[in-house]
Formats: sequence, structure tokens, C-alpha cells
Amino acid sequence: MFPQQRMRRLRGRLIQPFLKEHHLRKTDLVTPLFIDETADCPTPIPTMPGQYRYPLNAIGAAVLRLQEKGIGAVLLFGIPARKDPEASESYNPAGVIQEAVRIIKSVTPGILVFTDVCACEYTDHGHCGIIGEGPCGMDLQNDPSLELIARIAVSHAQAGTDFLAPSCMLDGMVAVIRQALDDEGFQETGIMSYSTKFASALYGPFREAADSGYRFGDRSTYQIHPGNSREAIRESEIDALEGADILMVKPGMFYLDLVASIRELGLPVAVYQVSGEYAMIKAAATNGWIDERSVVMESLICAKRAGADLIITYYAADAAGWLDEEQ
Ligand code: PBG
Ligand code: ZN
Repeated sequence: MFPQQRMRRLRGRLIQPFLKEHHLRKTDLVTPLFIDETADCPTPIPTMPGQYRYPLNAIGAAVLRLQEKGIGAVLLFGIPARKDPEASESYNPAGVIQEAVRIIKSVTPGILVFTDVCACEYTDHGHCGIIGEGPCGMDLQNDPSLELIARIAVSHAQAGTDFLAPSCMLDGMVAVIRQALDDEGFQETGIMSYSTKFASALYGPFREAADSGYRFGDRSTYQIHPGNSREAIRESEIDALEGADILMVKPGMFYLDLVASIRELGLPVAVYQVSGEYAMIKAAATNGWIDERSVVMESLICAKRAGADLIITYYAADAAGWLDEEQ
């Protein structure tokens, strides 16, 4: 006890850097990117200042710039020119994502490519798969959507993606994707499942960005209620058993307790600092109410402290620059 015990001895200016328990590296960071088949030039996203929708003819250069900053991984979202109830553009071999993967793999073969596997950007109703009449009205149909999800996954694998990132929160999605990949000879293609994904209001800015808002209802019959933690852990356990290679908790900062729990399952864990988290930090910083760089770096090191191996963040490029300045 005090006065023998003095914690501040360990926080002296010289000793402090030696005792840091967690570190942020560029190889922790994954940048989400939006590729828009309808755009002619990089188009600013109003709800996410500093983020753009890239046309296919600009994506190679954009990823090259990220690579020059030391970013090694991207997570791709596609915005197709045409939407329909069955999301048919989502598995088009010449679709926006499939083309983007090919371009990125030819321009920057050293970049690790994750592709989001979901239907909501491709359906005209905006839900994450096939809809139909359920016990309480129109709803996402689980089993009829699985075939679609597997088909999307195989088309991404054929284009050359490294890891598929299914985000639809359908039961069985990881199992059917793993089976479909193995049947088609894609044993080396991995799965980073959005295994613990909450029904969060923090996805609002993304739905503007990806044009994936829904026409009716909400996503609460497939995503997890924010107050449920045992259910959240089971979701990741099941995806691990179904063959996921990497688990994910999404969103980030309100849910870091689950990063700590899910890390115990033994698989690598990603955390997704989502659009609403980006927008909140950006808005407060733009108003001069918080210091952007300090808040961002704090949010990222806290994700590491909670146990994340990977951090998916719209601040990846900025953080890479700030890490360089810290050297
Ligand atoms: C699509 C998807 C969403 C996000 C990632 N994939 C939106 C949603 O589920 O409604 C959110 C990403 C973000 O907010 O940054 N299923
Ligand atoms: Zn979706």
C-alpha cells in the first residue's frame, strides 16, 4: 500500500514507452472501399466526409495510393447499376465487385482483398437476401437466401478475392459458403464472417454510402439486439464451427466487451469500426469539439486492448499516416 506502492513510477516519461502493453501496426488495419458502377469519378459520400464512392476506372489508382501509405488490406462493397428482388447483379461474373477484385489483383497483387458478401446493395427492397411472407409480415427468408449467398461467394472467389466476408447474418451462411467453395475447388479462399453483428443504428451513414437502405421493416429479425451478449457469443461460436477462419464483432466501440469474450474462442478476431463511429468522430472533430487524431488513435488502441487482431476502419489511411509520424 501507499507510500510503498506508487503506480506513477511506471508512468515516468522514460520508462513509459517500454511498458506499453498493446501496439497498433499498419498490418492491423483494413480499409473499407465503395465501388460504384454508376459513378464517373470519385464521388464524395455526404454522410461520411472524406470517404468516396469510386468508379471502376479509379479503383486501381485508389488502392495503389493506399498501398503507398502502407495499407495492406481492403474490404470491398459494390453498388450496382441495376437492382432487382433477386439481387441478380450480385453474382454476375462481370459485376462491379468481381471486376473491382480483378483490377485490384492486377494493379496491386500484394494487397489482401476481402469482399463483403451480402445482397442488400443489390436488391431493390434493400434486404440482405430473398424476402417473403413470414409469420409477422414480409421478412428475410433464411433458407431460400442461402443459395444466393453461396452463389455470390463463388463468383467473388472466381474473381480472385482472398477472403469472403458474409455480412447477412443468415443462419447457416458460413456452412453453405464453405461447402460451395470447397465444391468449386476454392480450398484456399478464406471466410471472415461478420459473426457477431448487432442491429445497430450506427450503420446509418453506410446505408447512404452503399445505397443499401431497406424499403420496409428493419434488420432486427436477423441482426442481434444490442443488449444481448450470450446470444452474441453463440453467434460467433456457431460460425467458428461452420468453418469461419476469422470472426468479427460489429460495431466496434460500444461492443468491445464482446471482442474480449469472442477472442477466447481461439480464432482471429476482427472488429469493425462502422460508419456511424466514423461519422461521430468526424462531426465532433470538424466542429472543433474533439481532437480527431487523438480520438481516432485512442479508439484503435482500445480495440487492440480488447483483443482485436484486425480493425476495419474508414480511418485506416489517416491512421497509417499518423503511425509514420510517431516513428
Ligand atoms: C451489409 C453491411 C452493412 C454494413 C456492412 N455490411 C449494413 C447493414 O447491415 O445494414 C455496415 C458498415 C458500416 O456501417 O460501416 N449487410
Ligand atoms: Zn446486407
